[in-house]
This record gives sequence, structure tokens and C-alpha cells, in this order.
Amino acid sequence: MTVLITGGAGYIGSHCGVAFLEAGYDIVVIDNLSNSSDVSLQRIEAITGQKVPCEIADIRDQSKLEEILVKHKCSAVVHFAGLKAVGESTKMPLAYYENNVVGTHRLLSAMANTGVKQMIFSSSATVYGEPQFLPLTEDHPTSAVNPYGRTKLMIEEMLGDVAASDPAWRFGILRYFNPVGAHLSGQIGENPLGVPNNLMPFITQVADGRREQLSVFGNDYDTRDGTGIRDYIHVTDLVEGHLRAHEVLASGSAPSNCFAVNLGTGNGYSVLEMVRAFERASNKEIRYAFAPRRDGDVAECYANTELAEKVLDWKADRDLDAMCRDTWNWVCKNPRGYETSAD
Ligand code: NAD
Ligand code: UD1
Repeated sequence: MTVLITGGAGYIGSHCGVAFLEAGYDIVVIDNLSNSSDVSLQRIEAITGQKVPCEIADIRDQSKLEEILVKHKCSAVVHFAGLKAVGESTKMPLAYYENNVVGTHRLLSAMANTGVKQMIFSSSATVYGEPQFLPLTEDHPTSAVNPYGRTKLMIEEMLGDVAASDPAWRFGILRYFNPVGAHLSGQIGENPLGVPNNLMPFITQVADGRREQLSVFGNDYDTRDGTGIRDYIHVTDLVEGHLRAHEVLASGSAPSNCFAVNLGTGNGYSVLEMVRAFERASNKEIRYAFAPRRDGDVAECYANTELAEKVLDWKADRDLDAMCRDTWNWVCKNPRGYETSAD
């Protein structure tokens, strides 16, 4: 049983490749390397001791997708490929609609033409918009405030329509909260190009001296210390959730042929709590200064995890210290990401 992993050279996709290989599945990766390096694929091979067939290609190339699905006898897809930077999406909306929405449309068309009818899709807690209540349950109203978020919502709706058209389709929509951390080996991890947008990679670059200080976006939120609260989840827990979703879909035990579940821990931590946890893990001072709120940020966002526990029989169990420790281990072993290694 071969699982096609789109975006499998990227941050979450590479960890997912390891999890699926270790669980005994064959995988094939498709990635255009627009936001990743093929060194990650060599690292997956080093961790698992297994070959990782990879096609350097674009998911918008439907005939190539059909060729790959047939050649590798794929029975399911885990779909990570897409663009993910919120700020960039407001400047380049067409690139986001094309990569994410058109790309997913081509992928679904290729799957339809080759009879592959199971997909796990990487969605985001961003589809909940401004929380009307917390913790966020899957039936919280959805909305989006930027093109990136709208692509996720459009794709969720597209999957719902396709599932309704034919019960043979099986979709698991996984709404990630804030994935952080790295593989325990320190061989794969998050490798952002340019200035990081997200908190954890920015903190790591302050810790290793690449950046002077962290700007904490807002200290006047109605939260326990005035800074934004998020639900950080270890990437290894996150990909174990994918494995469970795959098993649930493949065994026919899903609650419906298109379900959506949150992948979070249910715990919220503030920006300052993250800074302190990272200082503990790295034994480095993280210099910071308060800055104005960032446009589009919400004060607080964390998951209700009951549905994931029930549907997937899965619960995240790695704590904040493990998330920071594993991130720091990855950064120390790979001070310039996949460009160089400290070994
Ligand atoms: P990533 O950028 O590291 O991985 C995405 C991969 O897809 C990259 O390797 C990139 O080269 C590839 N790719 C992009 N467009 C492609 C295309 N048209 N054809 C082929 N390959 C393409 O990102 P990630 O953090 O691993 O995120 C994976 C998925 O999870 C994305 O869909 C993202 O929107 C979603 N997600 C991520 C987060 C997060 O915080 N990292 C949160 C919520 C949802
Ligand atoms: C962001 C995106 C979200 C996306 C997610 C994963 C926005 C508005 N939201 O979520 O759509 O799914 O990334 O890619 O961009 N922070 C700082 N200083 C920094 C960076 C972040 O104080 O330099 C704060 C933020 O204000 C927030 C918290 O840290 O309170 C987490 O930020 P981030 O890691 O960017 O994640 P989200 O904003 O939750």
C-alpha cells in the first residue's frame, strides 16, 4: 500500500514520511522544492534506513500526478503541498489560489482519473477566524480574514462537495493548531527561508545569535500576561495524528466520508511563556521587545481535542519542554538548516 505524500520534503511532510515508513507503509513524495530542500529526503532515509522515492514535480501538473499515482500503485494521499505564509498571501493572492486551490483541484482530478479516493488534507485553525468561544470545537463557525485562510476554507468546501458526490471518496481534514518541534534525532526540522514569520523559528534565531531580539506582537491583549496565547503542538504528535487518520479512513471506521478534526493539545501558552520555556531548553537568553499587535492576530486560540480523541483514538502527549528541547537540538545540529550540518 503506497501513500503519496505531497509536499513531503517540507517541514511537516518530512516528519510524516518518517512516521508512515516506520509504520510499515511504502511512500512516494512529490514536491517542487519551492519551500524546501531535497536534503530532507536524504535525512528521512538516514532515520528510517529506507529509500524514499521522490518526484520533483508540481501538483499543478495533473498528467504527472496521474503518472505517479499509477506508477507507484498509490492507494491514498496525504496532501501537504501548498503555500503557507499569511503576509505573503495578501501580496500574492493569485499565487496562493493557484498553488493551493487549483493545485488541490488538479490533485483531486488526477485521483478521480486513477481511482485513488482517499486523502488527508492539511487545514489550519485559521479557518475558525476570530474565536467566538474557547476552546475551539470543530463546529465553531468558520471564516477567513486573508487569502491563505480562504484557500484552506475553499479546499475544505471542495472536499465536502466531492465527498457528497460519491460515497467512495474518503477525506480526513486535519485542522492544525501551531506545529513546532523537530524529530528527536535532530535530523529533520523546520527550515524557514528568509525572515521567519512564525514565533518558534524566530525565537530559535534569537537564541543562536542570527537575530538581535524578538518583537513580541502586542502586550495589551486580554490574556494572563497581555501577550497572544496559542496551542503549540509537537510535530511528532501531529504526524502521529495523520497516521491514525489514515488508518481510520482506510479501515472504513471514520464517522463520515469527509470529517474534520482539530490537531492540537488543548493547552494555550503565551508568547512570554514560550520565551521562558525556550530559555530553559537552550540555556540562552532570548532578548525581546514589545511591538504593536500584528494585523489579523487573535488574542487566544486553542483546541478542544475531544473529537480527535474520539474519532482518531489519538491525543498529543509531548509537552512544551519537549517541543523546545527538540527544536533546539535540531538547530544546534543544523545551524544553517539543510545547508550545513554541525556534525
Ligand atoms: P512547508 O512549506 O515546509 O511544506 C510544504 C511543501 O510543499 C514544501 O516542501 C514545498 O516545496 C511544497 N510545495 C508547495 N507548493 C507546491 C506545489 N505546487 N507542488 C509541489 N510541491 C509544492 O510547510 P509545512 O509547514 O510543512 O506545511 C504543510 C501544510 O500544512 C501546508 O499546506 C500548510 O498550509 C499546512 N499548515 C501548516 C501549519 C504550520 O504552522 N506549519 C499550520 C497549519 C497548516
Ligand atoms: C500564523 C498564521 C496562521 C497560520 C500559522 C501557521 C497569522 C495571522 N496567522 O498563526 O494563519 O496557520 O501561523 O503557519 O499570521 N509572534 C510574536 N512575534 C513574532 C512572531 C509571532 O510575538 O515574531 C506571536 C504572534 O503574535 C502570536 C504567536 O506569537 O501571538 C504565534 O504566532 P505564529 O507563530 O505566527 O502563529 P499564529 O499567529 O498562531
